[in-house]
Amino acid sequence: MVSHLDLKGPLILSPLAGGPSTPELIAAVSNAGGLGSLGLAYDTPEQIGAIIRKTKTLTSKPIAVNLFVPVKDPELSTDQKESALNSTKKYREELGIPSPKIEAPYSLDFDKQFEAMLREKPSVFSFTFGLLDRSYLNECNKNGIITCGTATTLEEGILAEESGVDWLVAQGIEAGGHRGIFSETSEDSGIGLFPLIRALAAKLRIPVIAAGGIMDGAGIAAALSLGAMAAQLGTAFLLCEEAGTSAPYRKALLDKTNLLTKTTRVFSGRIARGLQNRFLKEMETKPESVLPFPAQNAFTRDIRRKSAELGMSDFLSLWAGQGVSQIRQMGAGKLVEILFDELKEATKDPIL
Ligand SMILES: Cc1cc2nc3c(=O)[nH]c(=O)nc-3n(C[C@H](O)[C@H](O)[C@H](O)COP(=O)(O)O)c2cc1C
Repeated sequence: MVSHLDLKGPLILSPLAGGPSTPELIAAVSNAGGLGSLGLAYDTPEQIGAIIRKTKTLTSKPIAVNLFVPVKDPELSTDQKESALNSTKKYREELGIPSPKIEAPYSLDFDKQFEAMLREKPSVFSFTFGLLDRSYLNECNKNGIITCGTATTLEEGILAEESGVDWLVAQGIEAGGHRGIFSETSEDSGIGLFPLIRALAAKLRIPVIAAGGIMDGAGIAAALSLGAMAAQLGTAFLLCEEAGTSAPYRKALLDKTNLLTKTTRVFSGRIARGLQNRFLKEMETKPESVLPFPAQNAFTRDIRRKSAELGMSDFLSLWAGQGVSQIRQMGAGKLVEILFDELKEATKDPIL
């Protein structure tokens, strides 16, 4: 993988959709010899084209683009809608925003997003939340684009390999952000990165990439020694200068008194890991009022947006992995350089 893409080392920057992912961040990582991934699941086809082209003006190195596997919009009953509106009424009042209409569509047209990605021919196309039909993977292969799925269990990994993906991200329970669990309604198996990598690396023929809680070169070395071909790091880059992480999100990541992360469905309807704040804690007490994915994601967007605008972290999704206490603040190129140095140090032959 490293030699094929001419990377300096086995390091991938996670796609960080929802703000942190910027052309500057991705280009800085790719220019430093890692593989930068653009998280574009929340972007329109027009934005996807423009963002990839902008990134390509900042780097001539390989980049990856990431989207979400599409799901059917759920049919919501009047009761479900009322319950969702009632449970969040006080937040909208506090923030001074009107109650929204809950109406499909709740997500963007995947086929149009995919076409926009394909036109720009990134080196790698990665995706999460399940499997894609063979026809999408064939289109990528025809255009010289490597495909990469995501799995959180051995069973998902086997299905992903059978579906024809070239690479697979093994996402441990430690990971920040959304869990790549195939089914949006299933419980989380909660498998940690160590056993997941071991199981997948032993069983699959395709390269496996380790993701979840890796914050330094020693963590990358550990993942490689367990059988991973590379490590994918997200949380480690959230405080980089080039990241689009909002000011209140940055402040929360630096708050040493609140470093416990938790998985929750309250922001999007899908399980995701983040720092605990008021919205998470209060909404966790009323799970029956949380809409299914992706309706909840569309429904809470105005609250998250206004919270960011007001500089408050109370209502933001503060995605972060279990390694958040080790987060470092610097330019992304410098961080990649340090990670490679640490990796070299960690893989030196031990004196036995
Ligand atoms: C802020 C944030 C946004 C994320 N967005 C995406 C995404 O759009 N697509 C995706 O496949 N994974 C996404 N992830 C998950 C990452 O792919 C990866 O599993 C995770 O960053 C690894 O754990 P770590 O954050 O502890 O390094 C996101 C993670 C974070 C922290």
